[in-house]
Amino acid sequence: IAALPKAELHLHIEGSLEPEMMFALAQRNGLKLAFDSVEAIRAAYEFSNLQDFLDIYYQGMAVLLTEQDFFDLTAAYLHRAAADGVRHVEIFFDPQGHTARGVPFANVVGGIARALAEAEQRGITSRLIMCFLRHLSEAEAEATLDEALPFLALIHGVGLDSSEVGHPPEKFARVFARARGLGLKIVAHAGEEGPPAYVWQALDVLGVDRIDHGNRALEDDALVSRIVADNLTLTVCPLSNLKLCVVRDIAAHPLRRMLAAGLRATVNSDDPAYFGGY
Ligand code: ADE
Ligand code: ZN
Repeated sequence: IAALPKAELHLHIEGSLEPEMMFALAQRNGLKLAFDSVEAIRAAYEFSNLQDFLDIYYQGMAVLLTEQDFFDLTAAYLHRAAADGVRHVEIFFDPQGHTARGVPFANVVGGIARALAEAEQRGITSRLIMCFLRHLSEAEAEATLDEALPFLALIHGVGLDSSEVGHPPEKFARVFARARGLGLKIVAHAGEEGPPAYVWQALDVLGVDRIDHGNRALEDDALVSRIVADNLTLTVCPLSNLKLCVVRDIAAHPLRRMLAAGLRATVNSDDPAYFGGY
């Protein structure tokens, strides 16, 4: 398995920020972390649900300021992924986690894209997917899409992430329709913690090309049949599901059931600096 060539289709680049780099970037940028050692950071990575993780994830990414920071983050991930046999990677980024702190959009997309271009020289192909934070408003997602317009040559698709329950896909119907009109591919986190209804909405309202997670689709046979009939891929993240208590233990993970049901379930990392794996 270690030697096999791999594709990574569900990776939040900010979720690959290892504590060591968090410290290095904090120092470079003159910032003080809430933790005083790498061990203390790692010890804080005990989560009982998605929101527990997100609170720490947004705090961690606050060390990312400059174009070079985003380059270094992405380059480190790509070197590690290449060592694991990754040949193709589709990377999510969360621009609103940065622009809300005053970081220019260009720093974010510029640094990530420069590292992807460099990795392409080493034979790793890639795509970039811009995610909207679903706990924020659709108007804020629209403003983010506006900011992305000058960079669309670097961005292949748009996604939907962050706190799922209470923020159904239909909240973002208009911005995703506009993104589709711009020629962007559409994905969405759905059915990670949210109910099957959110997966239906991802299909019928957003018109997704792929579903991120999709675990809870298994609760609805008609939904499973629909996903199979549409030939849609699920980007499943078993270690993430374990760490965020979506599953009780890894043996209880539904990956096998997904495959048996005819779903195109793939195995991915999500946020490997926080969940382990890669
Ligand atoms: N952002 C980063 N990781 C995420 C996840 N697993 N679910 C929702 N939003 C996220
Ligand atoms: Zn994710």
